[in-house]
Amino acid sequence: MMKILILMGSPRPMGNTAKMAEWLADAAKERDIETETVYLNVLSIKPCQACGVCQMPGMGECILEDDMKDVYKKIEESDCIIFASPVYFFNLTAQIKIAIDRLYAFGPDYKKSFDGKKFGLLMSYGDDNLEVSGGKNAVASFNDMAAYFDVENLGVVHCQGYEPGELERNKDVKAECEAMAAKI
Ligand SMILES: Cc1cc2nc3c(=O)[nH]c(=O)nc-3n(C[C@H](O)[C@H](O)[C@H](O)COP(=O)(O)O)c2cc1C
Repeated sequence: MMKILILMGSPRPMGNTAKMAEWLADAAKERDIETETVYLNVLSIKPCQACGVCQMPGMGECILEDDMKDVYKKIEESDCIIFASPVYFFNLTAQIKIAIDRLYAFGPDYKKSFDGKKFGLLMSYGDDNLEVSGGKNAVASFNDMAAYFDVENLGVVHCQGYEPGELERNKDVKAECEAMAAKI
């Protein structure tokens, strides 16, 4: 069975990004694809310390002992990783950025670890559009990261919404989340 891992960068389980993740997971389930959502906010994940140990020949592993260990395992077991994040101060949230930096630990052979995997981005923001919200910066970071890991880029579903539930005003978002699931 194929597996999707959603790395959730919002602290709000009832928020707009969580709703997008739910729509994607529901559509995936209909296709017999398993989905697991990991709320990074409730995990204890230290930022990368740039010790460089993961880059040493034969390493490809992080020496930090924290909840990222579990996340690494889940990434390895997944066919698709969906990064889900609101826009905070014109970019991805700190919760998800810390986890992304820790992907450095796959080491010099990182492309092998991600061979055949797919990446997608779900994102919400309070301001009017991608441009003024700063969502464009998050999209650029995500696209560069997908290119770096040499994975298939499923693209981005983004929407406006400030308070939880406000994304429902965007009629096309649910269909776009479902379309992303169909690409997996
Ligand atoms: C600390 C903080 C910073 C934010 N910065 C931005 C921003 O730079 N641009 C923007 O459009 N919205 C910003 N927002 C609004 C959130 O992106 C918006 O409320 C989003 O829908 C939250 O997603 P969630 O419901 O999934 O948590 C910010 C919200 C918070 C709490």
